[in-house]
Amino acid sequence: MRRLIGWIFMLGVIVAGELRADETSPLVVILMGPPGSGKGTHALPLSERLQIPHISTGDLFRDNIRKETPLGKLAKSYMNQGNLVPDEVVLGMLFARIEQPDCKKGYILDGFPRTIAQAKALDEKIRKTCQLAVVNLQISDSLLIERISGRVSCKSCARCFHTKYNPPKNPSKCDSCEGTLYQRDDDKAEVLTKRLEVYHEQTGPLVAYYQKTSGVLREVDASQPKEIVLQAVVEAANVGTLALN
Ligand code: AP5
Repeated sequence: MRRLIGWIFMLGVIVAGELRADETSPLVVILMGPPGSGKGTHALPLSERLQIPHISTGDLFRDNIRKETPLGKLAKSYMNQGNLVPDEVVLGMLFARIEQPDCKKGYILDGFPRTIAQAKALDEKIRKTCQLAVVNLQISDSLLIERISGRVSCKSCARCFHTKYNPPKNPSKCDSCEGTLYQRDDDKAEVLTKRLEVYHEQTGPLVAYYQKTSGVLREVDASQPKEIVLQAVVEAANVGTLALN
């Protein structure tokens, strides 16, 4: 009997230890999905709920473009054609960002990884140290075109609105910071067609990659209204117990 109690006690210690380790290891949430599927829209509230930063590689590039840095000039030449920026450039920028102190408890990745090479490099970097949740936003190309053609983004804080589905109070000013709203250069019809093509060819295979390698991929139907999608994203990121407000 004494031995049995001893075993139960030991098991309790091990389980408690594992739970503690899990709670303290950083959480990395990858938001995947085609252009316009809602990655940026949902990353923002998810970041507030989880208290971890939202990192969008597209926003990082656009910030560099605005500041006219050499990185920005290089990225612009790819982005305005609807092509991906080369892996080594993206990886250098992203890895420098996730080394920042605000990423200690984890982070939400929006628009990264986008190629198998990027996914493998990330796996290598965070393996055994982080918890991972991969959320795939599924939506048809025809809906995406409608969403992107109505999108306006803030020049200062990068928050985005939609002229029909999520209109700003003032059509030219951001509700959050009063920055100027604009339409992105790569949202023009011909560039968007190319972005969708590149997505299906180079990023699409990541769905099978994450299903096979880690089993952490969760699918969300992103064609539904914003609030419903957000609820599903929160649950898929394994934080369904957090209160939504
Ligand atoms: P990036 O900025 O990442 O663009 P993207 O992936 O093409 O995605 P978007 O920002 O266009 O869309 P989203 O999914 O965030 O949708 P949103 O929430 O805005 O990348 C731009 C470029 O940078 C790339 O093409 C590439 O060149 C380069 N790049 C970036 N990362 C790279 C990487 N890792 N490797 C190589 N190159 C890289 O929503 C869209 C609209 O829909 C909004 O108006 C929104 O209000 C509305 N909306 C959202 N959800 C709903 C809903 N449920 N109902 C109704 N409306 C909705």
